[in-house]
Amino acid sequence: MPATIIDGRQIAEKLRADIARDAAEFHAAAGIAPHLAAVLLGDDPASAVYVKNKRLACEKAGLKSTLIQLPAATTQGELLAVVERLNADVSVHGILVQLPLPKQIHPQPILDAVAPLKDVDCFHPENVGLLSQGRPRFLPCTPSGVQQILIHAGVKVPGSHVAIVGRSDLVGRPLALMLMQKGPAADATVTVCHSRTRDLAQITRTADILVAAMGQPEFIKAEMVKPGAVVIDVGTTRVGERIVGDVDFARVSEVAAAITPVPRGVGPMTITMLLANTVAAARLHGASQ
Ligand code: GUN
Repeated sequence: MPATIIDGRQIAEKLRADIARDAAEFHAAAGIAPHLAAVLLGDDPASAVYVKNKRLACEKAGLKSTLIQLPAATTQGELLAVVERLNADVSVHGILVQLPLPKQIHPQPILDAVAPLKDVDCFHPENVGLLSQGRPRFLPCTPSGVQQILIHAGVKVPGSHVAIVGRSDLVGRPLALMLMQKGPAADATVTVCHSRTRDLAQITRTADILVAAMGQPEFIKAEMVKPGAVVIDVGTTRVGERIVGDVDFARVSEVAAAITPVPRGVGPMTITMLLANTVAAARLHGASQ
């Protein structure tokens, strides 16, 4: 039987309606809307599209968004000064510095400079530390989107074996931290695979839930997937005019029980969780006043 296709856009829409309600409630109580400031350097077309989608999603959900667009040649010091200005601006609740940054910028000192209470990406070491201790302040957007997909698709995570292929700071590592913790959409046995993993297919074939997040188009083939597994595809690589995931969708969907497509799978969930974090940051800001 072909796999159920999990519609990430539908789940995202449902969650965004709840977030819009929360945003309106905050706005009514505080007199200002939750406010996300996004910083974009240069004119990378993929980043420009991401940022535009984030702004549109903010607008639709009743959040305020500001875009700070800087030249590609911006220096480390200039970018740091922009982040510090946003940290000090009490009207800004969430700050997002769009990655990747141009090569003259060292990303870590920039991400470390974002005020932890405004760190809606959950990149700051303080927030990553809290997450790893199982007491998160924010949940990182893409991993949180994956977890929400599993919840809304009715996938039983506790006790299952989750194999994550990819150990990035953005997805693989934080997702592993989240799924191994105690909780209803967690309590999993997690294996993190990467480019140096031996016998990768042997491991992925034992997974009840397989998350592909290594950024290699159509790398996961049908013979790497256990029949009846749930497959979550986080990959988004531009190949010509198409956006291609990390999973060979056509073949794997003949083996899996459920699968997320690309596009319309994890992608819409990342932005949704960013909106949720911005509302959460606005509430934290209110609580710290
Ligand atoms: N570039 C691609 N994905 C992301 C993300 O989730 N956050 C930031 N800041 N940049 C990105």
